[in-house]
Amino acid sequence: MRTKLIAGNWKMNLTSGEAGPLAKTIADAVGSDGPDVLLCPSFTLIPAVRDAVDGTKVQVGAQNIFWEPKGAYTGEVSAEMLIDAGCSHVIIGHSERRQYFGETDASVQRKTMTALKVDLIPIICVGETLDEREEGRTEAIIDKQISGALTGIEADDMLRVVIAYEPVWAIGTGRTATPDTAQEVHKQIRTWLKNKYGKDVAEQVRILYGGSMKAANAADLLGQPDIDGGLVGGASLKADEFKAIIDAAR
Ligand code: 13P
Repeated sequence: MRTKLIAGNWKMNLTSGEAGPLAKTIADAVGSDGPDVLLCPSFTLIPAVRDAVDGTKVQVGAQNIFWEPKGAYTGEVSAEMLIDAGCSHVIIGHSERRQYFGETDASVQRKTMTALKVDLIPIICVGETLDEREEGRTEAIIDKQISGALTGIEADDMLRVVIAYEPVWAIGTGRTATPDTAQEVHKQIRTWLKNKYGKDVAEQVRILYGGSMKAANAADLLGQPDIDGGLVGGASLKADEFKAIIDAAR
């Protein structure tokens, strides 16, 4: 049985004066039962969020990582730095990073290997654009992204990996994939995992859905057999909305 994971990707939003109180409100609302809950703020906000959720079941993650351990890499943050800051997870290969910062399947693979080495849980993002979907290439694109990201990842490590299916056309657009559409791709990903790692591993990997998830559609999406949680953008910045999504995962 896969425990659901509801992760908030705060993207480039909030200051520490706002992030701490929001994290605390969310942590207070979560209680001790229910799904796993994760907040992924910008690097500078990690300490404020970590302190606000200390002693609660809410975990803290980063939105990016670099693969080198240290050195002359201006602007980058290493795996060890994320652990040191209190992170348990890291989002890798978000479509916004692929689109605006040139991330590729190869860089996603390197970052994933780096995270696994220090016991950071990677949340690997995949998803097709609207053009790719309309051209009937969704399955091929997802296969290519998944196989690229997971090259060299062994079955033992795969058990610690989380995958997020985020159709690019649904991110920040208010246009959500229907539960059936999302389930179809989640099932495809799980079948891919089964073929590579076997049934036992495939049944344990959590596959999150992301793209305009909100209180109003969360229950239907999370009710699908292969949707194991959400990677939530905009709605995770509103305590009531995020809490309702967490409640829908109970
Ligand atoms: P929205 O929930 O704002 O569509 O963003 C989804 C997302 O990109 C999460 O990583």
